[in-house]
Amino acid sequence: MTQEDLNKQNWDKIYSQPWDKLPWSASIKQEFEKQYLDKYITEPNQDILEYGCGTGFVADYLATKGHNVLATEYSKVAVDIIKSQNPPFEIMETSRPADVRNRSFDAITSFAVLHHQNPETQKMFLLDFAKILKPKGQIIITGWDKDDEFWTAATPISTQGRFSINGLEKEVPKLGLKIINSEIFAFKNPLAPFEKDYLFRCYTMCERGAK
Ligand SMILES: C[S@@+](CC[C@H](N)C(=O)[O-])C[C@H]1O[C@@H](n2cnc3c(N)ncnc32)[C@H](O)[C@@H]1O
Repeated sequence: MTQEDLNKQNWDKIYSQPWDKLPWSASIKQEFEKQYLDKYITEPNQDILEYGCGTGFVADYLATKGHNVLATEYSKVAVDIIKSQNPPFEIMETSRPADVRNRSFDAITSFAVLHHQNPETQKMFLLDFAKILKPKGQIIITGWDKDDEFWTAATPISTQGRFSINGLEKEVPKLGLKIINSEIFAFKNPLAPFEKDYLFRCYTMCERGAK
């Protein structure tokens, strides 16, 4: 069995639990993400890729606002559960953004996903995002910030390890993108298997010159 198979199996196991018990399902995090989306996705009827949708809460939020949403998720278990609920968005099981072909998007959102990839894979995924972004589109991502105290205390969920997303900052200009907002978001989660705050770095990027 490859590392990739093990990782996928791990996520399937995670999504086989009751979803309200997932450590990242805290309402404070979800509220932050919704506010963050509202701040940046202000135009109606946008074509949006929600990459690594997990339980699908972001995809659902965006679709009920009238956007045309394609959600992708790595875990087949999560995808099957979402499909059985007849969601108001399209859903696809995949690991890599490059699997989304012949489509382009006004916005690409990805919350708490890229920190499960090593820096090389993060770079590759960001490049793939840039290729399917429409001119003047936006990429909105969150992931663990680099915080040494937090890193020591946190338990990795992914079998691939845990990484921060800060290294993307130097990749962004090489892809013709620019960071239009970078902020930190911290929240306590009573369900998390560690006591430290989650510390998320939130980036919004767009095509250079677009904003
Ligand atoms: C912490 S969950 C976040 C889910 C959702 N975005 C949210 O904020 O609730 C991390 C997600 O990353 C996905 N993921 C992990 N490794 C992945 C990989 N190699 N390729 C694609 N997705 C992956 C998992 O399937 C999982 O849904």
